[in-house]
Amino acid sequence: MEQQQKKILCVGLVCLDIISVVDKYPEEDTDTRCLSQRWQRGGNASNSCTVLSLLGASCAFMGSLSAGPVADFITADFARHAVDVSAVVFQVEGQTPCACCVVCPSNGTRTVVLYDTNLPDVTAEDFSKVDLHQFKWIHWEGRNAEEQVKMIQRVEEHNRSFPQQKITISVEIEKTREPLYQLFPHGDVVFISKDVARHFGFGSAEDALRGLYSRVKTGAVLICAWAEKGADALGPDGSIIHSDAFPPETLVDTLGAGDTFNAAVIHTLSSGGSLQEALTFGCNVAGRKCGFHGYEDITKFRELTIHKN
Ligand code: ADP
Ligand code: FRU
Repeated sequence: MEQQQKKILCVGLVCLDIISVVDKYPEEDTDTRCLSQRWQRGGNASNSCTVLSLLGASCAFMGSLSAGPVADFITADFARHAVDVSAVVFQVEGQTPCACCVVCPSNGTRTVVLYDTNLPDVTAEDFSKVDLHQFKWIHWEGRNAEEQVKMIQRVEEHNRSFPQQKITISVEIEKTREPLYQLFPHGDVVFISKDVARHFGFGSAEDALRGLYSRVKTGAVLICAWAEKGADALGPDGSIIHSDAFPPETLVDTLGAGDTFNAAVIHTLSSGGSLQEALTFGCNVAGRKCGFHGYEDITKFRELTIHKN
């Protein structure tokens, strides 16, 4: 298979998002009405698949589900978006994760309460069954990092054995959990969140990139998105690349903005675009996404793709 025709695999969480859109964030212990409510497939890696697919990339998702009506809703939605789910693992114990999400357009906030603690994550053993030749890029949302490092080592081995069919490895370190930091030296592209940057005591994306770059492997790119300030990246040449944010006319729904940014960056880099093109496209798609509910309207931005092979 031609390298360019291969798929992008995202490994991480899929959950059900039950989203209530409110005009004003509720007070604790009150009983109020919301403006609208919907079910949506969620989870960082799952959302990034949605966006990749809407941008026209072929992609696959790997993560855990537990059979039942919620998993049925989720798999139907993956199918609707043409996301390949053959690597999904149906666990025999635990529930499919679910998040209650309050989206408040007037403040531009999204407040999430997630329950994902009783469903086992996919393991290196599960990953050993995946045929790596289908993929040109594999992205890990940092979760069970110790297992994820073993999965990445399998890909590194594949890359040594098949240098003509190299798979690019990206990792996202979003949560401020110590074990996730072992992922730093394992990505060709490493995404960190503003929360992680702040956790290490940095007040800006640029300071975080300079301060944390020594943790990534030689030649890697470190990327830090910072909401309405856009995003910065640092690669092996030592120069900081920046894109401003593209604020929508009206802020509507910021849920999944980071996952949208990651997908648009991966889409650009995996089609041969430059780091600057990737950051600008990432901010453009993520910023515009904040102007509507959900992800579907992202199809309109396909033509924005700066880099085309
Ligand atoms: P998340 O909190 O979902 O992980 P971030 O806050 O890191 O996401 O934002 C990711 C990207 O989304 C930013 O780099 C920016 O391009 C875009 N974005 C997020 N919030 C806004 C906003 N309020 N206005 C414009 N763009 C935004
Ligand atoms: C958005 C998201 C939601 C999910 C939550 C989990 O980035 O993936 O879809 O509920 O984060 O942390």
